[in-house]
Amino acid sequence: MSNPIIEPSGGGVGAFVRELNLNDSMTDDTIAVLRKGLGEYGVLFFRDQDITPETHAAFASRFSNININRFFTPVLDYPMIAEVRKEPEQKTNIGGGWHTDHSYDKEPAMGSMLLARETPPSGGDTIFASMYSAYDTLSDGLKETLGGLRGVHSSRHVFGENAARFKDKDNDAGDRLRNAQEATQDAVHPLIISHPISGRKALYVNPGFTIGIEGWVEKESKALLEMLYEHARQPEHAYRFQWRTGSIAFWDNRATWHYAVNDYHGARRLMHRITLEGDALAA
Ligand code: SIN
Repeated sequence: MSNPIIEPSGGGVGAFVRELNLNDSMTDDTIAVLRKGLGEYGVLFFRDQDITPETHAAFASRFSNININRFFTPVLDYPMIAEVRKEPEQKTNIGGGWHTDHSYDKEPAMGSMLLARETPPSGGDTIFASMYSAYDTLSDGLKETLGGLRGVHSSRHVFGENAARFKDKDNDAGDRLRNAQEATQDAVHPLIISHPISGRKALYVNPGFTIGIEGWVEKESKALLEMLYEHARQPEHAYRFQWRTGSIAFWDNRATWHYAVNDYHGARRLMHRITLEGDALAA
């Protein structure tokens, strides 16, 4: 079998993988090409993949061990697949804000593979942003300053007992999330990391889970983080992916942010997510 074609998305991040049917057997060489593409482009998009949960899991596990998600409800009979679901009568979606999965873990997940099972008639896109590009476009002076800093990340405020779903009466995500008592993860990572696959520098803070800068008081941390977020949110770094049933986005959490757009009220959206284990991050 010849290797797949990897075609840049044309936006600030991501590439489309063409001529690959995930139901076909794949050589280690093909997996190596995909891994390199993931490290280079940050997200790989696949179209029209009619696969079973078993094939989804088998493909994902060619890249790393599967992380069993602590907080998301799993797909029935498939504990290794998390359900990302919003029903027509629900208001709150999962992932509706810029974030990087699992940055609160000491060894953050390397990536996630999201498969669209049911898509709304319109809307429900996911926007991705490149943290390579966010880093590359900072001034040399700021790059040098950030290079000596470390960010503090936590799961507590998002999945724990003080999370929005317990405090905000309009937040109805509660039926899709679980184990608030297990949201005890805190981690410190360099603000600028060297990407484990590509070796490129990437900005590694995110609005979802970063709660401060190590050794800085809250006011100082907030000011620097807000400035970095404003910079990283610029559309130049982003690509907006429109889902169809059978589409897959496989993103690298060390090189990207993502944002699930919540603009399809009254329709159902059902995705299957597999998250893959990663390693400790280095500057
Ligand atoms: C997520 O943040 O993992 C979900 C993304 C999406 O549903 O588009």
